[in-house]
Amino acid sequence: MTPPTKQDTMAARHLTFLVFGATGGTGKHFVSQALQDGHKVRALVRTPSKLPPGNANLEVRQGSITDLTDTDIDGLVKDADYVVSMLGDVNLQKQAKINTAFVKKLVPSMRRQGVKRFLYQAGGLSKPYGGQLSPLLWTIRYTIARGYAGQHEDNEAVMEYLATEANDIEWIVHRAGIGGDGPSKGELNRSKTNWSVATFRDCAAYTYRTISDASAVHTADFSCYGTA
Ligand SMILES: NC(=O)c1ccc[n+]([C@@H]2O[C@H](COP(=O)([O-])OP(=O)(O)OC[C@H]3O[C@@H](n4cnc5c(N)ncnc54)[C@H](OP(=O)(O)O)[C@@H]3O)[C@@H](O)[C@H]2O)c1
Repeated sequence: MTPPTKQDTMAARHLTFLVFGATGGTGKHFVSQALQDGHKVRALVRTPSKLPPGNANLEVRQGSITDLTDTDIDGLVKDADYVVSMLGDVNLQKQAKINTAFVKKLVPSMRRQGVKRFLYQAGGLSKPYGGQLSPLLWTIRYTIARGYAGQHEDNEAVMEYLATEANDIEWIVHRAGIGGDGPSKGELNRSKTNWSVATFRDCAAYTYRTISDASAVHTADFSCYGTA
């Protein structure tokens, strides 16, 4: 008999995903995949009308990550199986590390609520803590992608915080490469060295699969099409 895969195990249980960034390029695909598989999604969003109505498994709470009290965050985190962040606000992140400030409140709440697993989607152009960018990625980051500098600095501060102060949490960072929306180009795999310019849909599918992958805990890897 074929042993069950990680996806089989996840599909067999009905889980609750707490999602930040559910209305974004990656987040909208992530939410639809989780709902399609019969899971529950609790999403904090600034604009609820951006989410499709009428799914009893989708619990929408309105708010901004910049305005939440510890009590608000505890209420969101309570009873979640997995927490996932696909957050980004390129303009605000030019001035402030909003994601880092939020993750520094989220992790203590996860400890209080006994929730262990957290996946944070960052960018392939964000340096992992203690690591470097290849010359090619460095060049892209400081030329055509320089408008995203604040977002990368914020993502890097999140990775530093997770690696230095949150190793009791089962954190996973996905350093995604995304070229835009569109149909699937294939399945992404985790890689320390290879990266691809993927579609939002494929990044979301990868993030969704990877959150249940124990071997990804405490990694900040790329995703790539084909062999890792
Ligand atoms: N886009 C790319 O090309 C790309 C490439 C590689 C990696 N990444 C990384 O992937 C992650 C997600 O990117 P994405 O492009 O999928 O996201 P995105 O399309 O920019 O969407 C960001 C999401 O974050 C939400 N958000 C922003 N500020 C918020 C706040 N204060 N409170 C609550 N929600 C807030 C947005 O809500 P609203 O709908 O209300 O704005 C939206 O749902 C980021 O870390 C980014 O660095 C992106």
